[in-house]
Amino acid sequence: MKPFAPLFISFEGIDGSGKSTQCQKLYHELLGRGYKVHLFREPGGTHISEKIRDILLDKEHTEISPITEMLLYFASRNQLITEKVIPALKRGEVVLLDRFVDSTLAYQGYGRDLPLESIRQVADVAIGDVMPHLTILVDTPLETAENRMDDRELDRLEAENRDFKENTRKGYLELAKQEPDRWLILDGRESIESLKARVINRVTNLLNG
Ligand code: TMP
Repeated sequence: MKPFAPLFISFEGIDGSGKSTQCQKLYHELLGRGYKVHLFREPGGTHISEKIRDILLDKEHTEISPITEMLLYFASRNQLITEKVIPALKRGEVVLLDRFVDSTLAYQGYGRDLPLESIRQVADVAIGDVMPHLTILVDTPLETAENRMDDRELDRLEAENRDFKENTRKGYLELAKQEPDRWLILDGRESIESLKARVINRVTNLLNG
């Protein structure tokens, strides 16, 4: 049997956007079609990265500096790509990531106001040229996203103020505008099934292309 070409897809969006649901749907769809497929969340996805996640999302860690925060996201990410993502892609498998480097550009760059240039320099060291073929942005207005999270216990980032979240959302749209070929922007107010159909349509084109 001919090996599959590797495929790397990331999902992005503000908290409560609905992106994780779409990751899961795509994961199961591709598994059902017989692909060898992996789904990892960021920060997380390896033993060490999950420990870094605990540090990052702990609500008691209010003293964490913006640069420490940014570096920890990249530390987690480097461990994930080294241990899991690159080996899987080399085997010709499909890798789905629930968040990747664009989360840091949107949250720490546009949200936290760290210079994008500094983030890109760290990205160069931490991930080099490992970039997704496709990044799916589930763009959801803040109010809709917040309503969906009403009964969820919020982590440190989810508990941030509205300006931070609005700037993060705008940041995503700006990033997507800069690289239209890599991004697919979806309207997160659409139904789960309608979003799923759009995702599958685009990914099927990529797989056939
Ligand atoms: P999650 O809730 O989607 O698992 O993501 C964890 C939180 O971390 C979420 O509030 C977004 C935030 N985050 C960043 O601020 N920067 C990043 O680089 C990543 C990956 C996540």
